[in-house]
This record gives sequence, C-alpha cells and structure tokens, in this order.
Amino acid sequence: MQAAVLHAYDGAPESLRIEARSVPKPERGQVLVKMSAAPINPSDLMFLKGLYGVQKPLPVVPGWEGAGRVVATGDDWLSRMLLGKRVACAAPNQRDGTWAEYMLTSATRCVPLNDAIPDEQGAMLIVNPLTAWALIDIARKDGKRAFVQTAAASALGRMLLRLSQRFGLEGIHIVRRAEQAELLRTMGARHVLNSETPDFDARLRELCRQLDARIAFEAVSGMLAARVLKAMPKGSRLILYGALSESPVMADPRDLIFEQKRIEGFWLADWLAGRSVLGQIRLGKQVQHALGDLLRSEIAGKYPLREVHRALADYQASMTAGKRLIVMG
Ligand SMILES: NC(=O)c1ccc[n+]([C@@H]2O[C@H](COP(=O)([O-])OP(=O)(O)OC[C@H]3O[C@@H](n4cnc5c(N)ncnc54)[C@H](OP(=O)(O)O)[C@@H]3O)[C@@H](O)[C@H]2O)c1
Repeated sequence: MQAAVLHAYDGAPESLRIEARSVPKPERGQVLVKMSAAPINPSDLMFLKGLYGVQKPLPVVPGWEGAGRVVATGDDWLSRMLLGKRVACAAPNQRDGTWAEYMLTSATRCVPLNDAIPDEQGAMLIVNPLTAWALIDIARKDGKRAFVQTAAASALGRMLLRLSQRFGLEGIHIVRRAEQAELLRTMGARHVLNSETPDFDARLRELCRQLDARIAFEAVSGMLAARVLKAMPKGSRLILYGALSESPVMADPRDLIFEQKRIEGFWLADWLAGRSVLGQIRLGKQVQHALGDLLRSEIAGKYPLREVHRALADYQASMTAGKRLIVMG
C-alpha cells in the first residue's frame, strides 16, 4: 500500500514522504480499514511538529481521523460485527494513522456510518463534531446561558455557533479578520468581535457583562487567552482546547488570585474516556444525525495521497476556507 510516512518531528516537508508499505494484519480487537478519505486538522499540524499531546515512535503514518470500509478483522465478535461496514475511524495512539490506503485500528475506535453520510463528511465525524458537542454540553451542564469563543470562524467554531443557535445559548464570537466576522454574521451570529481592532478589549468586556458570559472556549492560547480572561466577570472559567498560536497560555495573575477566574484544559480523548461504551455509541448516533447541518464541515479541496504536501501548504495558507481532504484510491 501507499502511505505518507513521517520520519522526524520537525515540520520539514522532506520529513514526510510517500512510501510503499505492507498492508498490516488485524489481531484480536482490531479492524483493517481500507481508507477512502482523511482530513488535515490543526492536531495533525501539531503532531507533524512534535507539539501534540502524543508522540508516536517514528517512522509513523500521521492522520488522526478518517473514513473507509472495514475489509478484515480480528477473531472476536465486536470486530467481526464491523466487517464490510463503512466507518468513521480514529487512529490508534501509538501506531500508524489515517494518511494511508489502509489503517489498522481498534474496533472501539470506529463508528459505523449511516448510508446517508458520504465518506467525505464521515471522515470528519470524530475530532471536531464530538468536541463541539462536548463543549456545548459543558456550558449547558454548568447552567451557562452565554459563552465566549475564539478562532470562531474555524470549522469547530462554526459548529459551536450552530449548536448555540439550536440550544438557545448566546455566543460572543472572536475572530482575527474582517472577512471572518462577515462570514459568521451571514450565519446569523449576533455578537462577533475582531481581536485586531482597537476597541476589542473594551467591547468584549461590555458584551461579557451584558450577556453574563462566564465561560470561554479558547483555541488560540498566548495573549488572547489573557485578554479574554480579563474581560470576563469575576469567577469565570476559560477552557483552553487549542493552541493555534503555538504560544504558552498567558494570564494576569491578579485575575486568578483576586478574581477567582480559572483556566482549564480540554482534550476530547480524555472526555471520551470518561464515558461508557454505550454512552459513546449513543453519542456517535446523535452526532451522525447532525452531520448534515449543525456539525458539517466545509471542504475546500480534495487531494490524492501523493499530493499531501500541497494539501498541507494550501490548508495552512487559508484555514478558514475549509478542510483539505486527502482522498485514497
Ligand atoms: N482539545 C481537543 O480535543 C480538540 C479537538 C478538536 C479540535 N481542537 C482544536 O480546535 C481548534 C479549531 O480546529 P478546526 O479544525 O475547527 O480549525 P480550522 O477549521 O482549520 O480553522 C482554524 C481557524 O483558526 C484560525 N487561526 C489559525 N491560527 C490562528 C491564530 N494564531 N490566531 C487566531 N486565529 C487563528 C484560522 O484563521 P485564518 O484563516 O486566519 O488562519 C481558522 O479560522 C484547533 O485549535 C484545534 O486544535 C481541539
């Protein structure tokens, strides 16, 4: 099979090469997925540079999620049930990922796809939709009526916007460019702020006060986290779930000490691990139902596996334009 293989965690294009590899054989609890599509996500960019929360032994095939068909399984009932099925699948934590013609993964990391869902959307079912679902769930369980979010024009940010409209939550959506603000307004967002404008901090503080926004979903890190935390009322909670700036998270110590504001991390892998297998199956179904509208991702381009470098370059040049999918076969 053909696979994109990473040889060093340095982010250099020459460290990622297309190579021929033998097709792996599934053991007990495992399935072999013939991959059809896999997206590039910010977590993949971090992984390539060695900045992600997991580093796998090298050389390794990158890619954390995708979709395809189960073509072989281990000798156990759970894996055998998936034989022949189209699935959304997540890569194993220590072995090869989705940017290849075949991937071996655990049966528990697969979600069978409904006929109505094309592989291309199915390939993006896990990372962003489940996270958006989880974050909105956290806000609702915490009794919050309003939230702040950064990088709001991202695929996930747009899911948060649509979910908040569905569940009657107010969002304060922070972007960094005027075109992104316009995009969110056309989606019906009422409160959109551009962090690059001079009155940003004052307007954010005023909106947080007006809407009583005491929870923030922050994906940029660095100084933006400090600015958001400062603008929110006493006792607010900032949930850091991304680090798009690749900078350490900043905060004014006075906000933490005298204002009882808190910074927490969120990682989907941990959130899912805290749910029962039945709960995860139920969640997979709920998310699939919403994949056509509330939780859909825009696709800006499709690239054959051999053009993975072009896909990466195009994605990094314009992330807001939409996901770049690597398509196999
Ligand atoms: N913790 C978890 O479990 C988890 C799970 C899923 C996703 N995430 C995180 O969710 C975030 C969004 O992911 P996605 O797939 O939805 O992203 P995406 O669709 O690729 O979009 C990324 C967005 O972030 C903007 N951006 C990039 N760098 C930025 C910076 N330094 N400052 C401000 N904005 C910046 C981009 O704007 P431009 O077009 O201007 O570059 C774009 O609008 C990422 O941080 C990702 O790691 C976390």
